[in-house]
Amino acid sequence: MNYKTGYKISGIILLISILIFSAVPKINAQDRKLSLTPPMGFNSWNAFEAKIDEVKIKAIADIMVSSGMRDAGYAYLVLDDGWMAAQRDSAGNLQADPVKFPAGMKALGDYIHSKGLQFGIYECRGIKTCQGLPGCFKHEQADMNSFASWGVDYIKLDACYAEKNGLLTTEHLKIFHDCIQRTGRPMVLSISDFGNGAWAWGGKEFGQLWRTSYDIYPWMESVYACANTSGGDGTSHPGFNGLWQFAGPGHWNDPDMLEVGNLKNETENRAHFSLWCMLAAPLMVGCDLRTASDSVIRILTAKEVIAINQDSRGHQGYKVYQKRGIEIYNKPLADGTTAVLLLNKDSLPADITVKWEQVGLKGTQPVRDLWGQKDLGIFNGSFKAKGLKQNGVMLIKVGTPGSELVAGPEPTPLEKYSITKSGTTSLRDIWYIMKSGDAPRYDKSHSGTNISVGGIRYKKGFGCQTESRIMFKLNGKADRFKASVGIDDSYKGTETGNFRVLNEDAFGSRALFDSKKMLKGAKAINIDIDVKGLQFILLEFRGKEIIGDWIDPRIEKEDR
Ligand code: GLA
Repeated sequence: MNYKTGYKISGIILLISILIFSAVPKINAQDRKLSLTPPMGFNSWNAFEAKIDEVKIKAIADIMVSSGMRDAGYAYLVLDDGWMAAQRDSAGNLQADPVKFPAGMKALGDYIHSKGLQFGIYECRGIKTCQGLPGCFKHEQADMNSFASWGVDYIKLDACYAEKNGLLTTEHLKIFHDCIQRTGRPMVLSISDFGNGAWAWGGKEFGQLWRTSYDIYPWMESVYACANTSGGDGTSHPGFNGLWQFAGPGHWNDPDMLEVGNLKNETENRAHFSLWCMLAAPLMVGCDLRTASDSVIRILTAKEVIAINQDSRGHQGYKVYQKRGIEIYNKPLADGTTAVLLLNKDSLPADITVKWEQVGLKGTQPVRDLWGQKDLGIFNGSFKAKGLKQNGVMLIKVGTPGSELVAGPEPTPLEKYSITKSGTTSLRDIWYIMKSGDAPRYDKSHSGTNISVGGIRYKKGFGCQTESRIMFKLNGKADRFKASVGIDDSYKGTETGNFRVLNEDAFGSRALFDSKKMLKGAKAINIDIDVKGLQFILLEFRGKEIIGDWIDPRIEKEDR
């Protein structure tokens, strides 16, 4: 084919594409194109909490450029809580704290943009922010308009006080989503809800990332607990093996912002960063970059490690081995290789071996050390990392680029975690999709004894301790929810406990059942409620360290 014919054919193809695309209703550019890889940036909270001002933030912007962080991919500079004035202006609009940010938000946004960075801001969908400053509730459009006019590119939306709004979480987030669309400015929406199940109730319809955990703190127990909400059973039934199947390009699980640089030493910082990269977690830096050591900057800008996080396949890593403190994770990559993390959380040093069959490979495979940036050679059948100390990691890339894609695990079939058949389904027999707090123990009280309420023993149920929540996906397929509830006879105290069945998450739902306050010794209360058409239900047990039971919780579905 000569070049003239080539041009003609491409011209025709172009014309056809224009016709097709103008005929199809415009897909939502915001939803489709933002955050195709996990967002990267700096957020002020872990470093400064509410003690932020424009001098500090500008200094951070400067260092993000001079340290090479921007060029390593950290695009967003996000102001967390504490940036706004205690009162809205006379027209009801948000305004910057006049002492901390005298030049205002537009000027700060301009400065951030002038450095080749993007501007992120925090707000809350309750009446107040978590720090008690003005929240967005009932100001949604005006506030999104203000953000757009200031040049905001990324919104972290918290949920403090949102339970008082009287809206379902999904109803409220839809409002935000639509308000953002109406501004015409693409802005990433980061759902900050302490891990209340956005992966389960459809956070990806509204935003690009959602929290899976409570707040992170600068010590390893907290780092590992947060990692476990996304990569383990911290928030979902162990059968899911983490939340990997709920993430992908444009929608990410967020085990909270980074504490790299705030931990005790380089080993801890590396373990934390490696895990976040493997879990395809958003990488929002949270240390004071003005005083960060070279070692910290080296970790945060480690090119080959970041590449694992930013891989275009967007497959979240998942655990393939766990015993005592030893864990192995696998993250299949777009180029046909796979990233493998060998982690020793245990206090004793350990050798850790990964077998190729655990990570979807076989035979002989080249191995590259991603922290050491060196090829380690060709390995037959397995690879052993020797003498990993506590919190020590080895992060390797295995395989030959250009090979067939390494298969990830199969997503969980719906019948495992939802209602698919007629008749009675015991909720003990399907997997909960979200949990928080200490729940459930199957067919035992939380204290480990047989379930017993008001002197009567029951065989089946969930033993729980307050505060706890368990969400089940009904998928619109259930008719009635039945159970009995009561304080377990093994509870020694005198406090009251409260059982509720809710139709959505803890920040925005309606109670379908409320036991009111229950005391130890009281007879179990029977529940028999209509749950027709509901997508999920949340079983909530509240009170001060009380032990109680959901006895024989089950769903009934009529034959239709
Ligand atoms: C919540 C969020 C934190 C931070 C603070 C600010 O606790 O989870 O990440 O934004 O609010 O008040």
